[in-house]
Amino acid sequence: MHIAQTTVVDRPQIEQLLDTAFGPDRQQKSAYRLREGSRPVEALCFTVHDGAQLCASIEFWPIALVAEADGAATPALLLGPIAVAESCRGRGIGGLLIHHGLERARTLGHKLVLLVGDPEYYERFGFTNAPTGGWRMPGPVEQRRVMARLLDDTLALPAAAAISKPAAATSAPLAHPGEAEAGSHQGPQQQGGHDGRLAHA
Ligand SMILES: CC(C)(COP(=O)(O)OP(=O)(O)OC[C@H]1O[C@@H](n2cnc3c(N)ncnc32)[C@H](O)[C@@H]1OP(=O)(O)O)[C@@H](O)C(=O)NCCC(=O)NCCS
Repeated sequence: MHIAQTTVVDRPQIEQLLDTAFGPDRQQKSAYRLREGSRPVEALCFTVHDGAQLCASIEFWPIALVAEADGAATPALLLGPIAVAESCRGRGIGGLLIHHGLERARTLGHKLVLLVGDPEYYERFGFTNAPTGGWRMPGPVEQRRVMARLLDDTLALPAAAAISKPAAATSAPLAHPGEAEAGSHQGPQQQGGHDGRLAHA
């Protein structure tokens, strides 16, 4: 299976895959409140194809964890949406994309990844809901499904915090086919980042 970086050409098929996997009302979910006015991190959007068929897609979005105690904002990523087409499930593609995305995120200097999902699936990738009991989402959510994964074990996590949109989102178009493949190295300086942060595609 070949993991490729998502391009604009993939977008219509991805929207269709997400509608099928989560339902056409998926944008009502609380996680989508965190994505409004923002863009996924271009370097962390991946697809898997089987011939012409889109098998799977994963995205990571920039968010922040704002501590209630002092308002300090910790930059983080929101994993998702991830979806694997029904005909491609159970072949390890979901796991492959999650491992690949987390490893690439760590390489790019990200320290914390959050998601809203089933603990029964995500615990195998090192996600836990242990620290998230006092973290509020911008909408209704089943608290046990709010999960976190540290990419840097030295990062201190607040006990009480608001999971929020990123402090400032920059925008850049999605890559065009052939511009960037998942296997190619892209350091932060190549992401169009400024003041040490990554650009968001
Ligand atoms: C969840 C999803 C991405 C997994 O993709 P996949 O390529 O089939 O995953 P993998 O092949 O890596 O892993 C399959 C394993 O995960 C398990 N699994 C899948 N979804 C699960 C869930 N919600 N809870 C617990 N286990 C789950 C399968 O039973 C299977 O277990 P096995 O290895 O013991 O047989 C895919 O089923 C999907 O797109 N689902 C619909 C959208 C979705 O729920 N996205 C996640 C948001 S919470």
